[in-house]
Amino acid sequence: MELLLEGIYRHYGYDFRSYARSSLRRRLTKRLDAEGLTTFSALQDKVLHDPIAMENLVRDMSVNVTSMFRDPTFFLAFRQKVVPMLRTYPFVRIWHAGCASGEEVYAMAILLEEEGLYERSRLYATDMNAEALDRARTGIFPISRMREYTASYQQAGGTRSFSEYYTASYGAALFHARLRENVLFAQHNLATDTSFSEFNVILCRNVLIYFDRSLKERTLKLFHDSLSPLGFLCLGRRESLRFTNVEPDFTEIDAKERIFRRAR
Ligand SMILES: C[S@@+](CC[C@H](N)C(=O)[O-])C[C@H]1O[C@@H](n2cnc3c(N)ncnc32)[C@H](O)[C@@H]1O
Repeated sequence: MELLLEGIYRHYGYDFRSYARSSLRRRLTKRLDAEGLTTFSALQDKVLHDPIAMENLVRDMSVNVTSMFRDPTFFLAFRQKVVPMLRTYPFVRIWHAGCASGEEVYAMAILLEEEGLYERSRLYATDMNAEALDRARTGIFPISRMREYTASYQQAGGTRSFSEYYTASYGAALFHARLRENVLFAQHNLATDTSFSEFNVILCRNVLIYFDRSLKERTLKLFHDSLSPLGFLCLGRRESLRFTNVEPDFTEIDAKERIFRRAR
């Protein structure tokens, strides 16, 4: 398995070498089965010679499960505890690292719009998976999920009717173009790429769980260095700064919702 990961990194630049071992093994075994192969070295041979097989592997490796206003109480806490600080800034820069197909970004755009901050905000939405980003750029999501998203939006403190934000057509919900006017979607790999700007807020939710300790440390350092002084870092429900090198540099704004603020 190590040789397979090394080969992928050298050939394609995708670095999975520091992903948490158990889920890595599970996903690669799934890919082996799908390709009808029995050994990791056969899979290495296949992906190094066949870019389509590599695309499929990237798809399996990036768990793109996401939703709008995922963990609604997080967005409620963001409204109540982060937005008042953001109001004091002339311009707000937000980085969504590991945005998958963009639902989290559209949810944030809606929240900022309702709080009167969208006009002066720029959202940088990145992921390593180009396919997921392509979906994000369309702003089209399954209509079948709108009932669930409406409930989450309301729990997240939404103040309007959720259906105002999209047009239903042919079984899909097309979100209004205005919600992506101030959004830049771009490919960025947290395992290999560096910082590209300074942000007031970084959200990286449900991504670090896939990383081993060293990659988590690397990523958190990248976030620390990419945040402006007193900038906010938001992690997923099952993610924390505990026992990491950057822990002393952050204060907890909301322990349950995993909202932190850079203190130094
Ligand atoms: C489960 S989704 C999280 C989406 C969203 N943040 C949320 O909480 O709903 C995890 C995302 O992390 C991305 N990801 C995994 N490893 C990455 C890396 N090294 N660099 C950038 N994105 C990565 C995956 O492609 C996937 O889209």
